[in-house]
Parts: sequence; C-alpha cells; structure tokens
Amino acid sequence: MSLSRRTFLGATAASFAAGRVFAASKAKIRIGLLLPYSGTYAALGNNITDAMKLVAGKLGNKLGGREIEWVAVDDESDPAKAPANVNKLISGEKVDILTGPVHSGVAMAMMQIVRQEKTLTIVTNAGAQAVTGQLCAPNVFRTSFSNWQTSYPCAEVMLKDGRKKAVLMFWNYSFGQESMAAFKEGYSKGGGTIVKEIAVPFPQTEFQANLSEIASLKPDAVFVFFAGAGAAKFVKDYADAGLRDKIPLYGSGFLTEGVLGAQGAAAEGIKTTLHYADSLDNGPNKKFRAAFKEATGREADVYAVAGHDTVHVLAQALDKVQGDTSAQKELIAALESVRLDSPRGPFRFSKAHNPIQNIYLRQVKGGKETVIGIAQKEAEDPAFGCAMVK
Ligand code: BEZ
Repeated sequence: MSLSRRTFLGATAASFAAGRVFAASKAKIRIGLLLPYSGTYAALGNNITDAMKLVAGKLGNKLGGREIEWVAVDDESDPAKAPANVNKLISGEKVDILTGPVHSGVAMAMMQIVRQEKTLTIVTNAGAQAVTGQLCAPNVFRTSFSNWQTSYPCAEVMLKDGRKKAVLMFWNYSFGQESMAAFKEGYSKGGGTIVKEIAVPFPQTEFQANLSEIASLKPDAVFVFFAGAGAAKFVKDYADAGLRDKIPLYGSGFLTEGVLGAQGAAAEGIKTTLHYADSLDNGPNKKFRAAFKEATGREADVYAVAGHDTVHVLAQALDKVQGDTSAQKELIAALESVRLDSPRGPFRFSKAHNPIQNIYLRQVKGGKETVIGIAQKEAEDPAFGCAMVK
C-alpha cells in the first residue's frame, strides 16, 4: 500500500469529506522509477528518466501542486530480480506512483504485485501484451505501446514491397515472441511464408552463425526484434556479413531507435514501423527534441518521448484531483480522459489503458529516420482477454 493511501486511511472522516488532504498538506509525491540503468537497455532507461525529469522541471518539479520526489531502482532488465525491486519501491520506499519498466519480462513480474497492491502504475516502455490484455487492471496504464501495435503493421509493409518469404530473428523472451506472433498474424493473412524463426537468448549478441544461416536460406527479407546496444551490434554485423544489400531488413522501430548514430551506414535503407520518428513534423516534437538536446546533449528518441508523455499524462490527471493520490477512483477517471498533443502525434488511452496512436512507416535515408507515411492510423491494440474491454 502506498504512503499516501496509508496516511489517507488514517485520516479523519472530516478530512476525508474535505478531501484533497495531501495537496493541502503539500506532502511530496513519491514517484518510483523501475528502469534499467545498467546492461544492454541502460540507454533506454536513462532517456526515459532524463525526459521525465526534464518535463517535471518545466512544470516546477510539481505534480498536482505537490513537489516531486524521485526514487529510482536499477531493474537490470532482470525478471528474476523484479519482485524484490518492485517490493522495494512499493513497500520499502512507499512510492505513490510506480513507473517503468523497459523489459517485458520485468513488467510481467511487476503486474502480479501492482494488481494486488493496487499501486497506480504507468508502464513507460515494456510492450508485453498481458499488461493491457489478460492482466489489465484499473490501476495500470501504459504510455508506450503494445508489442502488437509496433509489429503487426510491418507485415503489410513487407508484403507490399513484394517480400513474400521471410526469416524472423529475435531475442527469445516475451517481447520478441509476441512481436513475432503479431507479425506472423499479418504476414500469413496476406499470403507470406515464414522460412525460419531464429530465437537468440537475451541479451546475447553473438550473431555470426545465424547470419551465415540467413545467407544460405536466401529469404526475400528478414524481420527482426533487437533493441538498445544489441540492435546497434546486430545491424552492423548484418552489414559486415555482406547481407545489407542482398536481403533487406525490416523490424519494429526499436531496431534503429536511439542507435542510428552507432549503426552509421549499416542502417541505410532499413524500414521499420513505430509510433514515433525523430523527424515527425509537429510543434511538440520540435520543441521537445530541442529541449532534450539542450538538457542532455543527446538526441531524443522513442524512449525519451515515453518519459515526456508519462509526466504530461500524470500532470493533467493529478491537476484534476489536486494532487490527491488517495482519491484513486477519481485519479483513474482523470487518467482515462487525458488527451495529449504528443511529439508522437495525438495520444489517448483505450479502454484497456493502452495508447491509441498512429504507427508510422519509417526508413533510414542519409543517416536519418525519415517518415514514409502512416502504416496504421490510430492503431488500437486488440486487448485480448482484458476484462475492462466490453
Ligand atoms: C520490451 O521488452 O518490451 C522492450 C524492450 C526494448 C524495446 C522495446 C520493447
């Protein structure tokens, strides 16, 4: 149970009737950050964190009138450590709101605890389907994407390009598996054939044997899930193996996101689908990218945008309840009605609490992520098994 909820339960009926106990007392609002700060996804966790703090700073470091106190835990992208890390934030640090993680396996372990504790949780990256599917819960929202949203639309893109025989290659954990399942759903519906599925243990980055196999299989294209430092290495190894100009690479946008600089010429021509692109031509994107660059010296990416939107979502909702995190029913209703003019484009929550958002078709040209068009407009995850969706 969170600090504000405990204090709230101890409050008098009069203070309950008066409401907004915490805003009035100006108690700090404790925001938990369950993110990777080491390992292959460290850059992703850092960009989410830095963007959250940047936006919060612009809001005077306050949400709903309460000063923010951040409590960060390095989740190491390790599902086995997730229960202890989540309990540390919820029971130990008594955070009012939990945010994170990046890794879908960590998210799955986290879901069991936050559903039980009813901790208000905002998932800032992990795309695991169950978060807003079978395990969906009123107290859980996601500001990033579902695996389905970022992978399903790529099947049609590949088929339209005339690539009918594909090899799939992915890190073998929930994100990779679900991403491939979503891709296959669209690809086989459209008449495509999967020649081979290559599952690589996470976070392994030894790809040579797999690349030789792909060369001998000669598919029309390869659809991939890797992200962060692993994606940077994969794309370079693919080019070094002489495959770049022979067998085109496709993927969900995590393949190039945040690592385009490291990939250099090796990434040229890669087509991906994602709910964001650096070059989106809208005011909020230009403003955010400039501010992020100035504050960190780095380029913003999809992970930074998730951090940006998470704080804006919280700010809108907490203003409505004047910072009273104990008024959970009202706070959830306020979150459900959030509308954002995000750097990614229009953003609103579905009934399952997953973003309804455009999925863009992007291609790396001249070292830049260009937007070719919208692969799926206002894409809504099917939310299979979510009891909140009637
Ligand atoms: C995931 O595990 O859900 C994930 C990790 C990195 C990028 C995208 C998704």
